[in-house]
Amino acid sequence: MLAPQLLMLLGGLALSGLVRGGVQEMHNVYELSGQAAHKERFSTEVAKDKYTPPEEKDPQFWYDLANQEINKRLALPQLDKLKAKNVIMFLGDGMPLTTVTAARILKGQRQGKTGEESSLSFEKFPHTGLSRTYCSNAQVPDSACTATAYLCGVKTNIINIGVSAAVNFNNCTASQDPSNRLTSIAEWAQNAGKATGIVTTTTLTHASPSGAYAKTANRMWECDTDVTSHGEDASTCIDMATQLVTQTPGKNFEIMFGGGMGKFLPKTIKDSHGKAGERSDGVNLLSKWQSQHAGGVLVSNRKQLLSVNVSAVGNIIGLFQSGVMNFHMDADATYQPTLSELTEVTIKKLSKNENGYFAFIEGGLIDYGNHNNQAGYALDEALEFEKAIQLARDITDIEDTLIVVTADHGHAVSIAGYPGRGTNILGINQHDSDINGVKYSVLNYAVGPNQYLDENGQRLPLDGLVGDDDSITPSYIPKETGVHSGEDVGIWASGPQSYLFTGVMQQSTIPHLMAYASCIGSGQKLCDSTT
Ligand SMILES: *[C@@H]1O[C@H](CO)[C@@H](O)[C@H](O)[C@H]1NC(C)=O
Ligand SMILES: *[C@@H]1O[C@H](CO)[C@@H](O)[C@H](O)[C@H]1NC(C)=O
Ligand SMILES: [Zn+2]
Repeated sequence: MLAPQLLMLLGGLALSGLVRGGVQEMHNVYELSGQAAHKERFSTEVAKDKYTPPEEKDPQFWYDLANQEINKRLALPQLDKLKAKNVIMFLGDGMPLTTVTAARILKGQRQGKTGEESSLSFEKFPHTGLSRTYCSNAQVPDSACTATAYLCGVKTNIINIGVSAAVNFNNCTASQDPSNRLTSIAEWAQNAGKATGIVTTTTLTHASPSGAYAKTANRMWECDTDVTSHGEDASTCIDMATQLVTQTPGKNFEIMFGGGMGKFLPKTIKDSHGKAGERSDGVNLLSKWQSQHAGGVLVSNRKQLLSVNVSAVGNIIGLFQSGVMNFHMDADATYQPTLSELTEVTIKKLSKNENGYFAFIEGGLIDYGNHNNQAGYALDEALEFEKAIQLARDITDIEDTLIVVTADHGHAVSIAGYPGRGTNILGINQHDSDINGVKYSVLNYAVGPNQYLDENGQRLPLDGLVGDDDSITPSYIPKETGVHSGEDVGIWASGPQSYLFTGVMQQSTIPHLMAYASCIGSGQKLCDSTT
């Protein structure tokens, strides 16, 4: 036991350390409390050789900025009585707050600025919350159980889509039990007479968009060949592409834009992109879809997409690659449409419905960039995502269209080590080094393909190895691909009822709030209380 006097002394020292913020005092506290050989946690070296933007040297700069922030909040349009005729949900797959921060820095740096002061379009939205992303059997989730949460409003087991946590992995029988099957906000919107659409840069049968229509005990069952390869009978266990084309609510979608054409076509024929289809059952789901939709059009490249007259056609399906779409940085811009172009056509088409619409729009390759530990790709995809959101806000009415932006889960990436202001976000931190004097990158992943070690396991100098758009960012734990992370993700909302999207909430609350705002579904609704 420590004598009371010593405890008081410790308290006093700790307090003086806090008050004066001195490194030395904190050091003393550790010595006194018996933590021998404790190194200083923070070195004043970090203050050396750093750039400060000149305007920021004047406190008035910050007072003015704070005033602008206050005035912006005071001038917020009062939208809390208005109903959301339209709801657009934007989903950044695998987009942790770290990626949001880094993307905002890259955006500013591409404009020739230091970057940290920049903002993404959706960061200007007035209401922000946090979403807890764990799934029923997983501390760190995947895109399937999270899609079930943010589109069906129920948490389930990892790998499941559109079915409850009563269903175990790969159990097709359980997934077909009506009591285990869920409905999505897309179906709630259709029941209210609204138009619906899904858009993704991955495949139409990828986990995130599938949350809007599929019910499956395995997200990999994208086509019949996939079902068979997982040991199930594809004639009784219906694959997701077939569900999309033949079942409610998928068959009613006015818009379906993404990649993954191969999942809809038999192996015996080539798709529009020159690759063979993937189906073994011989079914051409695209012909089937066209025969069921008079006036429906199929497009497969940017030119076809942009030449569609949305007033003159029925439903539109766009399949812009055989598999997932190409990263924006790698894509042939004349062939593959951007997420903004897909968003524009989607909104123009869906807004023809006088009852309004629900659209789900996914920036799906942010996750792919992060899995590759290619931060440059992840951030570029995040910037494409924020551009599409800006466009959506610009071409819709803030008084009738609710826009909700969120992510499904994070990735284990950090921005760390006291890099100076304006340091290349994809580059090396010039202001710190490891215990051997070797500098390290600003961004680092916990897990991934490249540790940059020499034959003795020592860290290599990173000069010339990182800093390019397509460099592999270093990681700590060797594994072929990076992994998801389990911390909360952000929610950003603008439009009618957007004030509801605040606080820390379960991810599964999000569709119920969107349904409340737009008076759809079987739960509480704004319209219940105002009529
Ligand atoms: C699949 O789920 C059903 C309940 O729907 C259960 O009876 C069966 O044992 C499960 N099969 C496996 C392999 O777990
Ligand atoms: C689009 O279609 C509508 C309805 O058929 C027609 O009135 C309009 O002229 C068309 N627009 C263009 C640019 O072709
Ligand atoms: Zn992922």
